[in-house]
Amino acid sequence: MTIHIGAKPGEIAETVLMPGDPYRARWAAETFLTDARCVNEVRGMLGYTGTWNGHLVTIQGSGMGMPSLSIYANELIKEYNVQTLVRIGSCGGMQPQVGIRDIILAMTTSTLSTPSRGIFKELNFAPCADYGLLQAAAIAAREKGVKIHVGGIYSSDVFYDERPDLNDQMMRHGILGVEMEAAELYTLAARYGRRALAVLTVSDHLVTHEALPSEDRERSFGDMVEIALAAAFA
Ligand code: HPA
Repeated sequence: MTIHIGAKPGEIAETVLMPGDPYRARWAAETFLTDARCVNEVRGMLGYTGTWNGHLVTIQGSGMGMPSLSIYANELIKEYNVQTLVRIGSCGGMQPQVGIRDIILAMTTSTLSTPSRGIFKELNFAPCADYGLLQAAAIAAREKGVKIHVGGIYSSDVFYDERPDLNDQMMRHGILGVEMEAAELYTLAARYGRRALAVLTVSDHLVTHEALPSEDRERSFGDMVEIALAAAFA
């Protein structure tokens, strides 16, 4: 047990999928895992462990934003010895060619700040995905016929952004989408020598202002979970 995770030693798998939303953790575990059981309920941040194609896997909510994800990822890495962490989440599209329902594989992620910022001082550290996971996710998406985009994203600290000029600069530099967690996940993975990837479904769009209708969400998010699982165990 840790401060924020109630699972006993051995109840968390070496591979963890991390949706922001704890209810999505429950949905993904009930939909895709065999013999899934709840291993964490502390603060309602649900976590489940089960098997997928015979592989032990945990799906643990991260909460929204980098400070929250950082708490769970730190405890998973340091206390439960988790080796592979795949964020599954939603993002806002930032390029015209990135459509609603498409999936973005975040090769690298720009930020203003992360909870790890203090370590780097004047250095602009460039958090990046594990290449093996990235490649395996791209292959899994192609096999499923799901449209993906691979490139840079932006991990923001704010959903309701009072600095739209920053989004303009991100778009001008080819950033594919915006979310709020991946940069800290990649930074922690780099620090502790673990594998990390963010697989993101485009749920809304900053250019076209479209949004994924609620009835479509389940199927689109399902593709993302299956791609994340296939990549983790490739
Ligand atoms: N901004 C930040 N995070 C997000 C967004 C967004 O538009 N959509 C989904 N996650």
